Amino acid sequence: MTPIVQRGTGEGVWFAPGRANLMGEHTDYNDGFVLPFALAQGTTATVAQRDDAVLTLTSHQRPGPPIEVALEDLAPGAITGWAAYPAGVAWALREAGVKVPGASIAIDSDVPPGAGLSSSAALECAVALALTELAGAAIPRRELAALARRAENEFAGVPSGIMDQSASLLGRAGHALLLDCQSGQTSQVPFTARLLIINTRAKHDLTAGEYGARRAECEEAARQLSVPTLRFITNCGDTSRLRDPILRKRARHICTDNERVLRAVTLLRDGKYAEVGPLLTQAHASLRDDFEISWPEADVAVEAAVTAGALGARMIGGGFGGSVLALVPDDRPAIRAAVTTAVAAAFAARAWTAPEFLDAIPSAGARRLTLRPPLARSGYPHAASAPGRDGPAAGATPQPV
Ligand code: GLA
Repeated sequence: MTPIVQRGTGEGVWFAPGRANLMGEHTDYNDGFVLPFALAQGTTATVAQRDDAVLTLTSHQRPGPPIEVALEDLAPGAITGWAAYPAGVAWALREAGVKVPGASIAIDSDVPPGAGLSSSAALECAVALALTELAGAAIPRRELAALARRAENEFAGVPSGIMDQSASLLGRAGHALLLDCQSGQTSQVPFTARLLIINTRAKHDLTAGEYGARRAECEEAARQLSVPTLRFITNCGDTSRLRDPILRKRARHICTDNERVLRAVTLLRDGKYAEVGPLLTQAHASLRDDFEISWPEADVAVEAAVTAGALGARMIGGGFGGSVLALVPDDRPAIRAAVTTAVAAAFAARAWTAPEFLDAIPSAGARRLTLRPPLARSGYPHAASAPGRDGPAAGATPQPV
């Protein structure tokens, strides 16, 4: 057997996964419940410490000269585009008092961007883990998730909640993560399954304003209902007190989705996996009709998947593009094949770009990797150029250290 190569402390490869979300959409910033899980797909940060206080950033997915910034020049607005996420993490860590070293960071990822699978959280969390380890700082993962979120909110300017970073940092193989976004309490819910992700390849852009608009509507609904956040509405019938029909629908989605999260947890703990399916499809209807963030490709994919035998399906993530998650019986490969065939045919009939099908397997959260040669030889010692497509995410055997 090939020996594992152990490297020095000033360099290494860190991995953080993307996420799918079983239940609880747009509930996180309403202080509610979410039930995401970490994916096997993720992002690697190959990092070499530098003697100067400079950060250089490269990405295999965004070829071009390294983006370079002095640590002391890091400030919101100083860097835009993809590099704002890793640079924002360095900024947020410094703001929290971490002595971030200069570093060359090379990024590679097999999370499709724009697919609603949190490629940005995977990027943030891989870099957050790398920089804190290199700095010798022991930051609890919940706090690290909050810092990564701060980078996204304040540095990259995306007003997202805490779900994605929590899933990436706290995920556990064979489990979904129940997160109470009010108390911050988490619990691991056993969930061994191979779900199907249907990347509809339609546009997904959280900065496009609709996400912020939903947040504002939820805040206004809470204000009119005289509660701090919609989390405090536990009887969903109370939302009918809202006069504005739009606010009423938004609040109803949040309340019913919180209920669905807790119901899904009970079902999973009781081993009633198949019964989670109809809950997914109900959640999709709520996201489509009450929260109004679905998109035509998602509606067609859900309909085709369920008709072909999926136990249930729904759009996931922020909305207006990205992926559908379908629950298919693990022990019936013929149904899985029927679902992918039906969805592909429904897209082809509408002359839409063919969807992409991916496995969604509840997997381990972010970690440092050790790598087997020859990757270790080609990926090290300096992260000036990104590892190739056969690099860490695709080809190496991840080993927790
Ligand atoms: C995006 C955000 C999350 C969450 C979801 C919707 O993924 O980053 O915080 O709000 O949308 O559930």
